[in-house]
Amino acid sequence: MKDQYGRELTDLRISLTDRCNLRCVYCMPAEGIDFRPQDELLTDDELLLLVRVAAELGVRKVRLTGGEPTVRPGIVELVREIHATSGIDEIAMTTNGLLLEYLARPLADAGLNRINVSLDTTDPDKFHRITRGGKVEKVLSGIAAAEAAGLLPIKLNSVVVRGFNEDDVVSLAALTVERPWEVRYIEMMPFGSVGDFAEAGVVKSEETMEKIEAALGPLTPLDLSGEDPARTYRLMGAAGVLGFISPISQPFCAKCGRLRLTADGRLRLCLLRDDEADLLTPLRAGATYAEMKEIFRAAAYRRPFGHALAEKMFPQARVMIQIGG
Ligand code: 5AD
Ligand code: SF4
Repeated sequence: MKDQYGRELTDLRISLTDRCNLRCVYCMPAEGIDFRPQDELLTDDELLLLVRVAAELGVRKVRLTGGEPTVRPGIVELVREIHATSGIDEIAMTTNGLLLEYLARPLADAGLNRINVSLDTTDPDKFHRITRGGKVEKVLSGIAAAEAAGLLPIKLNSVVVRGFNEDDVVSLAALTVERPWEVRYIEMMPFGSVGDFAEAGVVKSEETMEKIEAALGPLTPLDLSGEDPARTYRLMGAAGVLGFISPISQPFCAKCGRLRLTADGRLRLCLLRDDEADLLTPLRAGATYAEMKEIFRAAAYRRPFGHALAEKMFPQARVMIQIGG
């Protein structure tokens, strides 16, 4: 399956819920978020049908996100069913890690291959502030559990936010000296109702890299090809890797082959545009399997090219917690 610009579509990110057990400052507004009622979210059966459709159209890799994917009831069973879907050969998850202590092993046994854990700082007070109340110790035990369960390689996502964690990039980088982890720094993307705060908070990857090099020495490039949205580097003699994801300063739209399915059954055609195709409505109106496949394929084909953050056109309809990154 390809889109109108010839980009091959093999990755599907699925948001399993719009709920989360944290409330990160860049991801959701402090108040007034409009959670969807349960009956407007895809059921397990509907979701699995869409995964089957996607796999038949060429999707090979599924990434589960949220909100926080581990708070979806029945998550382990769902992973098992996705794993059993013919054509899907990799399942990953982006999680805040809070529940991994308990879930890493069952998820791995059910067929989960890898995880990305969000970790913006290891400082307990700053973590508490960024996540509006989270405990970093829980995340660190979650990472250890994931490692023990073989969910490798471990990738840690750090959204860099001015005034919150822009200096913590160094201590996060230092983790890779001993640990074979990939620490990935993400430029914060300004979203709708958190937009005002976000614009002032963006820290470009270049600044983050300079800060790390000044403190820990030169970075050796590993992969700058753009096949992975992260440009990767290694600190001298380090066991792990550093990645820089720069949606603001170096957009990677040309190589983006990612489809996003929201928890309420919309195919979001670009992370940073409000353009969506409704799959839930035809599904519930009784569309046949073949019709659903055609609706999916046609929507994917019209994926737009490029976001418009530079022109200050921020997505308005949803914030990150409702998309899942
Ligand atoms: N900009 C960049 N990344 C974000 N995430 C959440 N909100 C934003 C934002 N505004 C990241 C989280 C997590 C993933 C799901 O998306 O840190 O790693
Ligand atoms: Fe939850 Fe992740 Fe959003 Fe933080 S970034 S509020 S952990 S979904």
